[in-house]
Amino acid sequence: MATAKYIVGNWKLHGNAQENAARLAALKERCRPDDALAVCVPFPYLAQAQQALQGSTIGWGAQNVSEHAKGAFTGEVSAAMLADFGCGCAIVGHSERRSLYGEDDATVARKAQAVAEAGMTPIVCVGETLAERERGETAQVVTRQLAAVLAHVSAETKRRLVIAYEPVWAIGSGRAASEEDVHEVHAMLRGQLEQAGVTGTRLLYGGSVKASNAGALLNIADVDGALVGGASLDAEEFLAIAQAARV
Ligand code: PGA
Repeated sequence: MATAKYIVGNWKLHGNAQENAARLAALKERCRPDDALAVCVPFPYLAQAQQALQGSTIGWGAQNVSEHAKGAFTGEVSAAMLADFGCGCAIVGHSERRSLYGEDDATVARKAQAVAEAGMTPIVCVGETLAERERGETAQVVTRQLAAVLAHVSAETKRRLVIAYEPVWAIGSGRAASEEDVHEVHAMLRGQLEQAGVTGTRLLYGGSVKASNAGALLNIADVDGALVGGASLDAEEFLAIAQAARV
């Protein structure tokens, strides 16, 4: 049976124990064994996700990670700590981390390496701002962001990478990128990866993915899944996206 496209929920700074329990139970009960789903939850709820999703095929992961292995870094969480109790993936370089917390390309590359070294899947986000797009710099920005990662990480990490193209202006705006734009950028990323000798990488699209546009977006060549923010907080919406991802 063909595997469904990979759908990752990014809960961001949302949820509480009670809400999460209901959402996770709904996902566990109604997902199909061949769905490829994961939820990236706030750190304090990782253990809740682990417990609630036991016995299901739904993965769970973090939204950020420290670039450091250990030491005097108050407030940080290392990749090894996440891996210690079975966490499967971590988002790195989300545009909110880049813009609000000053993460640069080099930091993102170090985080991707840390996640993969711990045996997890790094979901690396790239994407241009609206100003960059309007200046015609989309290709340049996205290529630079991916190149920084490819230049830093090991060959083994390259094999584990998942790349999410998330145009910053499409995130949380309700306005997803057009199919043409997504196709163009994904084809470019695929070419860049292949030039670096990296094949089979899953390329996700993110930015205002919802049940109503998931089918069209997931149907685009070189789109292997989606990173879903707002719509991942609603179990019905997320499950409808999962349905659209079945191939
Ligand atoms: P959105 O967020 O689906 O709410 O646009 C996507 C993301 O930030 O990963």
